[in-house]
Amino acid sequence: MSDYQGPMRVLSGIQTSGEMHLGNYLGAIRKFVALQHQHECLYFLADMHAVTVWQDPEQLRRQTLHIAASFMAAGIDPETATVFPQSQVRAHAELAWIFNCVARLGWLDRMTQFKDKAGKNAERASVGLYTYPVLQAADILVYKATHVPVGEDQKQHLELSRDIAGKFNHDYEKPDFFPLPEPLIKGEFGEAGARIMSLRDGSKKMSKSDPSENACIFLRDDADAIAKKIKKAKSDADALPSEPDGLEDRPEAKNLVGIYTALSGKSSAEVLVEFGGQGFGVFKPALAELVVEKIAPIGEELRRLEADPGYLQGALRTGAEKAASIADPVVREVKDIVGFLT
Ligand code: TYM
Repeated sequence: MSDYQGPMRVLSGIQTSGEMHLGNYLGAIRKFVALQHQHECLYFLADMHAVTVWQDPEQLRRQTLHIAASFMAAGIDPETATVFPQSQVRAHAELAWIFNCVARLGWLDRMTQFKDKAGKNAERASVGLYTYPVLQAADILVYKATHVPVGEDQKQHLELSRDIAGKFNHDYEKPDFFPLPEPLIKGEFGEAGARIMSLRDGSKKMSKSDPSENACIFLRDDADAIAKKIKKAKSDADALPSEPDGLEDRPEAKNLVGIYTALSGKSSAEVLVEFGGQGFGVFKPALAELVVEKIAPIGEELRRLEADPGYLQGALRTGAEKAASIADPVVREVKDIVGFLT
């Protein structure tokens, strides 16, 4: 429960565990860019979440800067939105501990991402991987964030954050302390983009951990690489249908049309009016042209920013100070509510 009356605040994060791809862009980063001009926004690099599975230290540092550069290349202005590495604001970890004592084991047992990531060998997974969604709740609530732009795969984690906020408010009889954060899954462009699938298998989400290079379009890819990956993308032998219903049971076709929809801003009905009856020999080159037009310039800017790690680190340090100035007083209040000496 929550009677929270505070201001609207947007927050989201991306794990620093690999290269940014089209799914991250359409499911998250593009929404971050749009929201920064409308609301107070905080966007962080989830390096503490990344180490729930093994990360080479040097590579982790590079990946963290890569994501910062991806944010900025896509249009996030660090002077407008607050951009920072999670590990530089200690309030996240402090609140996560208290939330570990609020969340119930049964709630975590239901988390499907842990089951997917831990696989059959759950006994050997880190404890951090198990309590990962509790840290995620702390990331959000340490800023009393009210809205969280994410892809569809994060829906369950957001529900857990709401459960933790509600239980904290209830147990400590502070019904207006934490908001119940709302996921923002549909973008300004509608449903398209909430879940982008692998280019090699339309039933699997596009993921940084996919072993196949061709499964993902990375923000770093240049025009040639993008065109090649779309040409090789799995499709089927039929022509495109003239209406969206005809895409059911055709996961690869549905995904490629979904990418076109998300990047063009058109509805899938409009896209199919244009391409219905055409085969992939016609649709794929049109899609490649659109992806190159929208993504290749981001890749260029990304490479330029990555060449200046000093600038990126300076901007992140400033962001972390701003973030801490919001989060620290919240943690102080939480400690008082819980009964720690202040
Ligand atoms: P992560 O790093 O897996 O993904 C970052 C964002 O990208 C979205 N996304 C996708 N959207 C559409 N299609 C896809 N194929 C696709 N793949 C990824 C994700 O939904 C996400 O929005 N647990 C989070 C990171 C996190 C976080 C938070 C997010 C940590 N703390 C607090 C919000 C608030 C994660 O692993 O995202």
